[in-house]
Amino acid sequence: MHQELQPTLDFARQMDLEDPLKEFRSQFCFPRHNGKDAIYFCGNSLGLQAKNISGAIEQELKDWRELVVGGYLHAKNPWLYYQHNFSNPLSKIAGCKENEVTVMNTLTVNLHLMLLSFYHPTKQKYKIMMEAGAFPSDQYAVETQVKFHGFSPDDAIIEIAPKEDEKILQEDDIIEAIERNKGSLALVLFGGINYYSGQFFDLKRITAAAHKAGAIAGFDLAHVTGNVPTQLHDWDVDFAVWCSYKYLNGGPGAVGGVYVHERYAKDIGHTRLAGWWGNDEATRFKMEKGFIAKPDASGWNISTAQVFNMVALKASLEIFEQTNIASLNAKSKLQTGYLEFLLHQLSNINFEIITPKEPERRGAQLSLYFKEQGKEIHKRMMDSGIIVDYREPGVIRVAPAPMYNSFEDVFRFYEILRSI
Ligand SMILES: Cc1ncc(COP(=O)(O)O)c(C=O)c1O
Repeated sequence: MHQELQPTLDFARQMDLEDPLKEFRSQFCFPRHNGKDAIYFCGNSLGLQAKNISGAIEQELKDWRELVVGGYLHAKNPWLYYQHNFSNPLSKIAGCKENEVTVMNTLTVNLHLMLLSFYHPTKQKYKIMMEAGAFPSDQYAVETQVKFHGFSPDDAIIEIAPKEDEKILQEDDIIEAIERNKGSLALVLFGGINYYSGQFFDLKRITAAAHKAGAIAGFDLAHVTGNVPTQLHDWDVDFAVWCSYKYLNGGPGAVGGVYVHERYAKDIGHTRLAGWWGNDEATRFKMEKGFIAKPDASGWNISTAQVFNMVALKASLEIFEQTNIASLNAKSKLQTGYLEFLLHQLSNINFEIITPKEPERRGAQLSLYFKEQGKEIHKRMMDSGIIVDYREPGVIRVAPAPMYNSFEDVFRFYEILRSI
């Protein structure tokens, strides 16, 4: 922190004045509450709509209206190559090469596709390790994948839980569990940031341990991409999937993101379920037998680009291009730190912050655990114009997004909480 933090509106406003990213806020639409902008701290669930999005959608509507099928080649952003627009901005956000990243489908679908490509269980090595309390969709995906291969979830899934009386996992325990299970472990799948606790795992260390154990390392980065910088290529991560509707502001159900390490992306023989959009563009329209994968991550594309499910993300990434993930994260650390500082001033509400204290072990989200009355307090927050979400059991997740939230938002949140 560049100065002593203070629980005052003047201080928060001064922080906003000094914020190099302060102009970005005006590029977003805020929901309203009693004639004022609501305090929107729910970008961990659904990011705000950027103002450039309606124009971008209108452009595609116009090209469809006027060019119809000609839009595949002659639209302002030709639909045939629409996915090309994402490789560069996403490679910078995810920390990988352009040929390692693509957009397609949605997160859970992509997780299934990646598991089909990377989970090749044998009699000896067939287990998947994940964090206990992983996002339910991931749990269902893994449960049904192991069954699909003829294994029993009780035996084939290893869940790593925090120690008794602790709410977060210790990295050493994860590494130790990977080493202990190396004889039977086929794949390690972690949520990069656990959706409930907000804990950011050490992806590099987990990947290295998985590889040492002869296992694949894959991650669900739904709460990471656009929030915390990653170096997926340098960390040697095998695959990752994420959604685009949280910190990437791509809109509800927006197209998902996929990363596959170059060593697989370039391997056109790598196992996958294919469709014509993943076929070499030069031969795609020859309509011939025999799939020839594109020699990059887009070789995993299956169907025609879903332009209307991608356009908002494209527009939103243009805003990311005006800054970078490192600057966003630098602001986020200050902002989340300020939120934490203010929460520590509150004595009228009984809660525990279960998210790790260390800035490098979390992103923009702080999870407040209420032993009692969490739901009622959440309702009172919502009634007072604070938009945050509640997750059973007992957690209110509070996530100031550095792209559009101000320090004043953080202070107003604290003031309202003080009066509850
Ligand atoms: C961590 C995590 N994984 C998976 C999902 C499911 O994503 P989708 O519904 O896009 O498949 C979500 C949705 O919020 C999530 O937060």
